[in-house]
Amino acid sequence: MNFLSSVFFGIQAEGFVQGVQKTIDSIPHKDGIFTGDNLITFGRNLGFFQDEKFMAAWRGNVETPVEEAIVWRLAVLAWAAKSVIARKIPGDFVECACYKGITARILCEYTDFAQRPDRSYYLYDLFEHDDSMLHHSMAEHSTTLFDKVTARFADHPNVQVVKGSIPEVLHQVSPEKVAFLHIDLNNAPAEIGALEVLFDRLSPGGILVLDDYGWLAYRAQKLAEDPWLAERGYQVLELPTGQGLVFK
Ligand SMILES: C[S@@+](CC[C@H](N)C(=O)[O-])C[C@H]1O[C@@H](n2cnc3c(N)ncnc32)[C@H](O)[C@@H]1O
Repeated sequence: MNFLSSVFFGIQAEGFVQGVQKTIDSIPHKDGIFTGDNLITFGRNLGFFQDEKFMAAWRGNVETPVEEAIVWRLAVLAWAAKSVIARKIPGDFVECACYKGITARILCEYTDFAQRPDRSYYLYDLFEHDDSMLHHSMAEHSTTLFDKVTARFADHPNVQVVKGSIPEVLHQVSPEKVAFLHIDLNNAPAEIGALEVLFDRLSPGGILVLDDYGWLAYRAQKLAEDPWLAERGYQVLELPTGQGLVFK
């Protein structure tokens, strides 16, 4: 199994993709190759591509080359979501922030979330953007995105899509107990604000995934999160995908 995407972030050099192709050409045993999302691997199992349910959820929902290229990150999240359910870790699921809801939709299908009335999934975002905001805009931010995301989960009565600014909105709507916490806010103050409200609510055995933790472009987040978590006795595992992983 090979996965070849030419989506790499932070590089415009014209020769780069050709260079990656040359690298692939030079690999004698062409199996287990993954390119994309700033990863180049070879000789790997890439076991998530053999997980038919994950593949169906991923293939059935991605809409853009970037969403396709981040498949390894999605596999990490799918593993975390499935693990807390399998281990019966008490609590709800939270994503700060969900943007189009693609990732959450994949996780819902992968974990049969609609058939789990004992758990809710809280999806937060601003859904719109203006230049006063610390983080960058995304292509589909608009006045209609909240309605689109709400519609995406119309068949999931246990998914709550919440529009508002983190952390303030968390004081209005948020679960008391959390099993799975995915933070992807692209700015350090909001991420620390989310942790201030939600980390204590993460159940023992619960999993926190910090999407931007390992990326140099978002280094301010790591620099804020490392001491914040160290004070509480936790250290983040930086994954090759760029995500950070913490077990409560
Ligand atoms: C990279 S996107 C999230 C992508 C999403 N996790 C996914 O997997 O598809 C980052 C999002 O964070 C949102 N955001 C940034 N700061 C925020 C804040 N303070 N409150 C709520 N949402 C925020 C932005 O609106 C943006 O949609």
